[in-house]
Amino acid sequence: MNFPEKIIGQKITLERAAVTFELARELDALAAVSRESLLPWLPWAIKNKTPEDEFDYLLNWCDKNWKEGKGYAYIIRENISGRLVGSVDFFDIDAKNKCGGIGYWLGSEFVGNGYMHEAVLLLEKEIFAQGFNRIFIGNDTRNIRSANVAKRAGYHLDGVLRQDRWSEIESCFVDTNVWSKIRADFEK
Ligand SMILES: CC(C)(COP(=O)(O)OP(=O)(O)OC[C@H]1O[C@@H](n2cnc3c(N)ncnc32)[C@H](O)[C@@H]1OP(=O)(O)O)[C@@H](O)C(=O)NCCC(=O)NCCS
Repeated sequence: MNFPEKIIGQKITLERAAVTFELARELDALAAVSRESLLPWLPWAIKNKTPEDEFDYLLNWCDKNWKEGKGYAYIIRENISGRLVGSVDFFDIDAKNKCGGIGYWLGSEFVGNGYMHEAVLLLEKEIFAQGFNRIFIGNDTRNIRSANVAKRAGYHLDGVLRQDRWSEIESCFVDTNVWSKIRADFEK
């Protein structure tokens, strides 16, 4: 697999998440001001609370998986300002079955601009170019904004996984929507 280190779009650019303290501090600052909007949906927002936590994520998830071809994490920057706005990644890669998932988040002040819509379309184009056949997006059934990202990008709602996850915050099992786009949809 040969994912590009940089993918330039109209409003945003995706950059390979580099292992630097500067980026760790940027991620931590963005997550800190956005924690309320991230917490209900992203379990990592509970435990990643310092720049050191973010550095550990950059080193032991982003860099490690990129080098091993097991996951591709990009940070998203706004073209007009260069500011970090969020991140998008390709994870749970199943090389044999040529599929994997796209995950994402935005800092709360950057929601509502179509940034994630563009990020998903940029990343999926690369994923299909690498020979993958199916991309999934999973979201809590109550996460309307995330569902709208999948829907707006043309993903098909395959179904609902009932109570497939334990929510630490709510101490209960929660349901997941599974959306997908297959190569045939992409090439239509
Ligand atoms: C999920 C999340 C990334 C969605 O963010 P978002 O800003 O709603 O999504 P997009 O960036 O695609 O923007 C779409 C919004 O921008 C608007 N928009 C403006 N210009 C647009 C354009 N050119 N193209 C598409 N949408 C545009 C859309 O109308 C939409 O706003 P609306 O829903 O109020 O109508 C964000 O809410 C988030 O980070 N949530 C917390 C973390 C999370 O839930 N992650 C996903 C876990 S599964």
